[in-house]
Amino acid sequence: MIADSATGARRRIYGRRRGRKLRAGRRALMDTLLPQLRIALPPTGMLDPATMVPHAKDLWLEIGFGAGEHLAAQARAHPDVAVLGAEVFENGIAKLLAAIEREGLANVRLFVDDARLLLARLPDRSLGRAFILYPDPWPKERHKKRRIVAPETLDQLARTLCPGAELRVATDDADYATWIADALAGRPDFVVLARVDGDWPDRPADWPATRYEQKAAAAGRRPQFFRLSRRG
Ligand SMILES: C[S@@+](CC[C@H](N)C(=O)[O-])C[C@H]1O[C@@H](n2cnc3c(N)ncnc32)[C@H](O)[C@@H]1O
Repeated sequence: MIADSATGARRRIYGRRRGRKLRAGRRALMDTLLPQLRIALPPTGMLDPATMVPHAKDLWLEIGFGAGEHLAAQARAHPDVAVLGAEVFENGIAKLLAAIEREGLANVRLFVDDARLLLARLPDRSLGRAFILYPDPWPKERHKKRRIVAPETLDQLARTLCPGAELRVATDDADYATWIADALAGRPDFVVLARVDGDWPDRPADWPATRYEQKAAAAGRRPQFFRLSRRG
């Protein structure tokens, strides 16, 4: 949950935290590996990115990484980048931990709570790239206020992304795509580099399909992609 700045109320925007009972091996990773990689917020003030992954040349963030396939792919391809992931779903976190251990990925750090709490504690201009891939669509009208792509999240991303840094967003929900475009319209802080509906012949090679995207494609749903740049 997060404090709603307008009302002071605590507002939870994510869905379930737990699914099926974890297998013993994954449970063990939650107990042993997660504490080593977990990002703890300081009691006050901002996090110091330099202490997260020593010698990293950049800092990237994936919000709602699911089972972490995309995050692991980025960490594998960019070992000199500290890749932060925020996710609340335990089974997904455990799956990513298994990949981190299997592949010896040394550049991943995890925040296992509402991504907005992490964003609020990252320093200005600290992120070189951010990803929000297939955020929960919350299709019902009364639930749309839970959508993570909202002016407050974009404000925080605009504050934390470096000038020229890329924000990648994807959704398979046509209404959410319109919602994202509306949220960006008139914002002077983001430039839309590309908005692609469906097939994307020039899709960047370093933007692998996520697990959710594969499921959506199998179900016949069209993805829409946004590549945005923080204006300098
Ligand atoms: C539809 S899934 C997509 C997962 C993954 N990005 C993919 O494409 O396979 C959305 C994920 O975002 C996570 N999520 C939703 N709200 C969140 C929040 N406020 N902070 C962190 N994670 C969140 C959910 O737990 C869920 O795993």
